[in-house]
Amino acid sequence: MRILSGIQPSGKLHLGNYLGAIKQHIELQDKGEAFYFIADYHALTSLRDKDALMQYTFDVALDYLALGLDPNKATFYRQSDLSEVTELTWLLSTVTPMGLLERCHSYKDKIAKGISPDHGLFAYPVLMAADILIVDSDVVPVGKDQKQHIEVTRDIAQRFNFIFGEVFKVPQERIMEETGVIPGIDGQKMSKSYGNAIEIFLEGKELKQKVMSIVTDCAPVEAPKNPDTNNVYNLLKFFVSEEENKEWRERFIKGGVKYSEVKKRLISALDETFGSAREKRKELSNRRDYVFDVLKEGAKRARETAQKTLFKARDAVGLGKKLS
Ligand code: ADP
Ligand code: TRP
Repeated sequence: MRILSGIQPSGKLHLGNYLGAIKQHIELQDKGEAFYFIADYHALTSLRDKDALMQYTFDVALDYLALGLDPNKATFYRQSDLSEVTELTWLLSTVTPMGLLERCHSYKDKIAKGISPDHGLFAYPVLMAADILIVDSDVVPVGKDQKQHIEVTRDIAQRFNFIFGEVFKVPQERIMEETGVIPGIDGQKMSKSYGNAIEIFLEGKELKQKVMSIVTDCAPVEAPKNPDTNNVYNLLKFFVSEEENKEWRERFIKGGVKYSEVKKRLISALDETFGSAREKRKELSNRRDYVFDVLKEGAKRARETAQKTLFKARDAVGLGKKLS
């Protein structure tokens, strides 16, 4: 089974990204042939700052490697190091109906937010289809928000195959285990763009400040409380054992829980969860060349399949070398 997924380097990764994507990607590297890439071409649709793009790309690479991505198990690369993807994007775009892209929620949502659309944003799902199809992916583990993009990928693949003959494997999405929507410090969905994120690699004073600023109600300590509506508990539950989780739930319901106590426990639980990854990340951050070598090596490996697929696609449409 070939597994593929990508993550955009559009900001520092946070606990929502970790629980909703990275953790599951890393677990899947033992379940099949995993391909993971840093979607820097995609990030260009929202980020126009050279230094920031380079920094975030490096940060994402560090984060994945520190959190356990093993480059000997998973093929890990930077999307732009596999430029075959852009060529395939063009071939695919010639069979992509406008209506298919016009119906995409994420495009419509961005326009509704007042972002003035350019062609890159509109064509975003076609680039994504090329990412997926070029390495013959079987499954694509993504968050719910990306489900429609995988459906678009399937539509494009099937249309291409119908017109030009069987070239692409038609992939399936795998909606990642329901971690639900991880709340940010204000209780809304944690997101890089809402300024409410707790970054995975925050530590010490900064981590303390962030956690202490998680919004809670002002119910008195003795009052019984609903754990499920508490923003601190809704993060803590992912980082403690089942038993401890149960104890917290009972204590909330009974009353007598001080929010500052829950916040302190969240800090120590994050320290326990990410302690060794933090050390590894620090060590890797001084080995920039090594990190870029890993990505280059990954692209080289991905290219072996990518070139074959691209060759087949070029040949199918009439861009092959043979005239027969
Ligand atoms: P952001 O909203 O911070 O820009 P992205 O859209 O880049 O995050 O998210 C990449 C992936 O991380 C998503 O497909 C999703 O799986 C996961 N993710 C992001 N935020 C959350 C969240 N708050 N809760 C659960 N999963 C999340
Ligand atoms: N659009 C995805 C996101 O924002 C990132 C991505 C780009 C991706 N190409 C992909 C995910 C291919 C899966 C497969 O989360």
